[in-house]
Amino acid sequence: MLMHRQEVVFLFLLAFCYFEAFGSGATLPIEEEDALKQISKTLGKENWNFSADPCIREWSWADPSTTKLYENNVTCNCSFQNNTVCHVVSIVLKGQNLQGELPAELVKLPYLQQIDLTRNYLNGTIPAAWGSMQLVKISLLGNRLTGPIPVELWNISTLKYLILEANLFSGPLSPKIGNLVNIDEIQISSNAFSGELPTSLGNLSSLKDFRISDSNFTGKIPDFIQKWTELDKLTVQGSGLRGPIPPGISSLVKLTDLRISDINGTASGFPPLRNMKSMRTLILRNCNLTGPIPDYIWTMKDLKNLDLSFNMLEGQFPPTINKPKDAKYIYLTSNLLNGTVPEGLLKKGDKNWAFSTTGNFLDNDIEEDTFIAENVSRLIMPDFDLYTTARLSPLSLTYYGLCLWNGNYTVKLHFAEIVFTDDRTYSSLGKRIFDVYIQGKLVLKDFNIEDEAGGTHRAVVKNFTAIVATNTLEIRFYWAGKGTQSIPYRGTYGPLISAISVDPDFTPPGGGNKISAGAVIGIAYVLQERGSLLELVDPKLGSEFNKEEAIGMINIALLCTSTSSPLRPTMSSVVSMLEGRTVVQSHISEPNLSTNYWNNKSIRSRHQRLHSQEQSQSNSMDGPQTGASTSASDLYPIIMDLDFLNHRE
Ligand SMILES: *[C@@H]1O[C@H](CO)[C@@H](O)[C@H](O)[C@H]1NC(C)=O
Ligand SMILES: *[C@@H]1O[C@H](CO)[C@@H](O)[C@H](O)[C@H]1NC(C)=O
Ligand SMILES: *[C@@H]1O[C@H](CO)[C@@H](O)[C@H](O)[C@H]1NC(C)=O
Ligand SMILES: *[C@@H]1O[C@H](CO)[C@@H](O)[C@H](O)[C@H]1NC(C)=O
Ligand SMILES: *[C@@H]1O[C@H](CO)[C@@H](O)[C@H](O)[C@H]1NC(C)=O
Ligand SMILES: *[C@@H]1O[C@H](CO)[C@@H](O)[C@H](O)[C@H]1NC(C)=O
Ligand SMILES: *[C@@H]1O[C@H](CO)[C@@H](O)[C@H](O)[C@H]1NC(C)=O
Ligand SMILES: *[C@@H]1O[C@H](CO)[C@@H](O)[C@H](O)[C@H]1NC(C)=O
Ligand SMILES: *[C@@H]1O[C@H](CO)[C@@H](O)[C@H](O)[C@H]1NC(C)=O
Ligand SMILES: *[C@@H]1O[C@H](CO)[C@@H](O)[C@H](O)[C@H]1NC(C)=O
Ligand SMILES: *[C@@H]1O[C@H](CO)[C@@H](O)[C@H](O)[C@H]1NC(C)=O
Ligand SMILES: *[C@@H]1O[C@H](CO)[C@@H](O)[C@H](O)[C@H]1NC(C)=O
Repeated sequence: MLMHRQEVVFLFLLAFCYFEAFGSGATLPIEEEDALKQISKTLGKENWNFSADPCIREWSWADPSTTKLYENNVTCNCSFQNNTVCHVVSIVLKGQNLQGELPAELVKLPYLQQIDLTRNYLNGTIPAAWGSMQLVKISLLGNRLTGPIPVELWNISTLKYLILEANLFSGPLSPKIGNLVNIDEIQISSNAFSGELPTSLGNLSSLKDFRISDSNFTGKIPDFIQKWTELDKLTVQGSGLRGPIPPGISSLVKLTDLRISDINGTASGFPPLRNMKSMRTLILRNCNLTGPIPDYIWTMKDLKNLDLSFNMLEGQFPPTINKPKDAKYIYLTSNLLNGTVPEGLLKKGDKNWAFSTTGNFLDNDIEEDTFIAENVSRLIMPDFDLYTTARLSPLSLTYYGLCLWNGNYTVKLHFAEIVFTDDRTYSSLGKRIFDVYIQGKLVLKDFNIEDEAGGTHRAVVKNFTAIVATNTLEIRFYWAGKGTQSIPYRGTYGPLISAISVDPDFTPPGGGNKISAGAVIGIAYVLQERGSLLELVDPKLGSEFNKEEAIGMINIALLCTSTSSPLRPTMSSVVSMLEGRTVVQSHISEPNLSTNYWNNKSIRSRHQRLHSQEQSQSNSMDGPQTGASTSASDLYPIIMDLDFLNHRE
């Protein structure tokens, strides 16, 4: 390190001067206090009070009002040299929107073990100089930091926690990462890392938590993960890595939290998880899994969250299941499963299915998730009332229009990002990315509302033509593991939709029914009912049908029942379903086979099974062919939001 001669002399002279800690008799070396002054400048931490002893834990040096997002805490250890000397050992500045850069001057605090700058607005790169420190924890989650990780960082052999989530880091990981022999946690999701995972990662035998979602890695999920026998949590969602899940995963017997999703690659059977007796959260979504779900899954007694959706799993459920005691949700939508859902998965006494595609937002430490986002500031835009609230989903949200007249429709999707901000705070650093499918076809990939609209709190409307050929319109929003998950707070991710409008490109027959120019559905329903999608219902279709089955899979069902039928839901009850306040009642009745709907053999056969295989099957059936590839398998999800069941009125 270069130092001017004068500085050296100065430091030498002051080397034995101390800042005496009030009352304790122990003092902080003056050069550490100077270092803090430089650090405050570089970070933009303006309110440290240098008239007070930094080790006193008062006057802005340690704020007792700590929350999940905010913390302000400088800690010293004052037991050096027989309790006469203090050294700074920890600096925690969370949620303060600091606007500076990472201080290289940190090296002047030689006893520092922890630097936590979670959720600020820092930019620049990680100083290479940090590589010479004896740090135990580095947390930089939620900043604007860029560049590759300097190779020097991998020299910090004392490091146990490295948390770089939600920044703009890029480049490949150096094989030197294998030097972190004491590392417990590596959390580097939501960056732009690329390249393959270096094999030296396999050396990190004490690793307990490894998260690399939402990145740009290449190659396959490596087989060396089998060496991480201490691993407790593994998260690989939207990471760029391909499948299949290597069989070596079976040796990770201590896993309690496994989340792998959105990996391409050859189809493979269910990975061997039999030995993971303490599994609490198991997500294997969109992993191209085939074959049956092994029975041992149903004996994992600690299982709380299970999501095996969007695979090609098939086969029957076992007839009885001891529902895992604490199961919160079980999400099996979009598979090829058949058979009857075993009693054990239903809450005792529940004859009706309640369905919600919402799942839950993991990690947000909130028992009752909210699926409605509300705008906090005033919106200035046309139709602002459409955008004041929006519907959120942690993974997949599907809207169905049922029993529509066949023909072409213009579907307009209204979006506005109302959760993130546009200012110089960490709330502006969130990235929301999701996909949209209409009639089973991908129409928006990696859609980012903010980018499309040119900022937050601005509307963007996307128009599409949907061909309705079997009286059904399906619009699905899907979270493929991309985007940040912890800005502004943990559990913020997934699709957000403000409103949907559906206009027929034709004049629907039937004369008598006034068809409004369009139907706009304010998704969170202050209901802005402008016209009604129900008016687009073809009245000759399905005056009655088995709603238990039909609605069951529908998050938001716009039901076609005859206008005279008491079963036809009022708009307000649809709203209520939308909000998840009402459990869709089942009115089991024989399907009315005289209607076209039920005469459609393909649809009927799907209804006869709880789950169904889609295209391949519907293509082999007679009856009207869909012009578009309607994802019928989604009509048969088993989405048990048991928490929802437990908490409903
Ligand atoms: C800074 O700390 C001193 C105590 O050393 C205190 O008297 C003063 O009020 C503090 N200033 C601020 C702005 O808090
Ligand atoms: C400040 O940090 C120290 C060391 O990490 C910790 O022991 C202490 O509880 C923290 N104090 C507050 C108020 O958060
Ligand atoms: C403070 O430092 C001393 C000497 O290095 C060490 O023995 C002690 O464990 C440290 N105290 C804390 C709370 O870290
Ligand atoms: C440490 O300090 C105590 C009292 O402050 C004193 O009695 C003791 O002799 C000191 N020990 C050494 C090794 O200086
Ligand atoms: C950090 O951002 C500020 C503006 O916010 C800019 O002036 C500065 O050059 C940036 N620093 C780096 C290293 O990118
Ligand atoms: C990193 O450690 C290696 C030895 O483990 C040493 O040769 C190298 O100089 C160190 N680099 C830095 C920047 O400290
Ligand atoms: C990911 O990699 C692809 C191809 O290498 C590139 O086009 C894309 O911009 C990268 N994305 C990010 C977020 O870095
Ligand atoms: C998976 O395949 C899809 C479609 O080909 C592609 O868009 C996506 O980027 C691929 N993802 C990965 C992780 O390779
Ligand atoms: C799933 O596996 C099949 C067969 O191995 C393969 O053809 C298909 O492309 C895979 N799908 C994805 C999304 O990777
Ligand atoms: C259930 O699926 C299995 C395998 O996918 C198949 O052999 C069986 O015929 C199916 N049963 C029913 C009732 O469809
Ligand atoms: C419906 O839309 C498709 C695709 O845009 C088009 O090819 C077809 O002609 C349209 N049909 C009618 C009746 O307008
Ligand atoms: C979408 O529809 C709106 C309203 O009809 C129209 O103003 C806009 O130009 C359309 N946008 C596109 C891209 O077609």
